Amino acid sequence: MAIFVPYLLLSTFLYQSSFCALETHFESDLAQELLISAKDPKFFDWVKRVRRQVHQYPELGFEEHRTSQLIRDELDSLGVQYKWPVAKTGVVASIGSGDQPFFALRADMDALPLQELVDWEYKSMIDGKMHACGHDSHVAMLLGAAKLLQARRERLKGTVKLVFQPGEEGYAGAYHLLKDGGLDNVNAIFGLHVMPSLPTGTIASRPGPMLAGTGMFSAAIKGKGGHASSPHLGRDPIVAASLTIASLQQIVSRETDPLEARVVTVGYIEGGQAANVIPETVKFGGTFRSLTSEGLSYLQERIKEVIEMQAAVHQCSAIVDFMEEKQMPHPVMVNDEAVYEHVKRVGKTLVGEPNFQLFPVIMGGEDFSFYSQRMPAAMFVIGTKNETLKSDQPLHSPYFFIDEEALPIGASFHAAVAMSYLDSYAAEF
Ligand SMILES: *[C@@H]1O[C@H](CO)[C@@H](O)[C@H](O)[C@H]1NC(C)=O
Repeated sequence: MAIFVPYLLLSTFLYQSSFCALETHFESDLAQELLISAKDPKFFDWVKRVRRQVHQYPELGFEEHRTSQLIRDELDSLGVQYKWPVAKTGVVASIGSGDQPFFALRADMDALPLQELVDWEYKSMIDGKMHACGHDSHVAMLLGAAKLLQARRERLKGTVKLVFQPGEEGYAGAYHLLKDGGLDNVNAIFGLHVMPSLPTGTIASRPGPMLAGTGMFSAAIKGKGGHASSPHLGRDPIVAASLTIASLQQIVSRETDPLEARVVTVGYIEGGQAANVIPETVKFGGTFRSLTSEGLSYLQERIKEVIEMQAAVHQCSAIVDFMEEKQMPHPVMVNDEAVYEHVKRVGKTLVGEPNFQLFPVIMGGEDFSFYSQRMPAAMFVIGTKNETLKSDQPLHSPYFFIDEEALPIGASFHAAVAMSYLDSYAAEF
């Protein structure tokens, strides 16, 4: 017995490690094959052309009609089947056997209400709108993956769903896509976002919570307007709002464990027009963020209490609105450990071990979190920084620009993750 047990453990260990080595070997061959195809000059020119077309005609959330048409035209010419409309302008394409397992890849489609200040040949043609968050590249990378996968469809051991999702920039497009049944039966999902702080050729992510859960609020404090010389005859909402906003800061500094990450930010305040008038009303609003859903509910509850009670202290009244219909709160973005490990392994074989980085947790939000709540999900970022090209400007900057060399890397990354996921999990279905 004493000999038998270690022997059994040892043989299990040997079996597993050689199996893993074999799997990694196949995965790296596959990743390299896909990368070589994507870097082919004809493929590269096509994927750049797609990205530039989307870039020139940016559309805001749930208005992505032209972008959606372009996606469908490209899918038609590749001979790829798709469902449309899903969540108004969204498109969900399918490649493979039509059977389980189903693995999804996601690209968001919408632009931002921002004037592009980069002067280049394919600058935005629409005044006041710009792809300053790289969703044009996400669409091009996913269409690139469609082309790579369609050429290998006979080899797919299941089905890849390519999800072109509308309205990521505050419209909760992911929520609406799920509600429309766009991802029914999907076993796991992967999403990729460009990252101008990382050099082209690198990828990054982290297991567990990666991005914050976020919510928005707006508040109106109503007092009683009057002459500035007689404050005792009015009820000053400016003083009430000032102390309320200062009190809101104590929720994080005095009520939150200092080792836990939470944010409350008031981003605007409006009230009053003249130096000698006490106004009737002051309005303000902001966002709150946490890395746990409990944290998010706590902040929401306390924001309401603090505003209402502080207003009452100053003999004013308050209305707090969390805009859950229009500006739906986003859950915490959590990377599933198993999907994360899979993507990391495939990613390293694609870009090389030293070009994978552990990404820090940031308190930004992303509606991909609606997927991560419903199914195992992983989100990675892909570097687009090249100082020569000045593609190191932050996301949402009017100077945002990408290094298009990242497009073939992203396309093959998507395709390699999906194909190898189906290879690894097909036996379980
Ligand atoms: C940056 O872009 C320039 C121009 O396309 C290119 O020559 C150079 O090799 C790139 N640098 C890196 C580090 O990729």
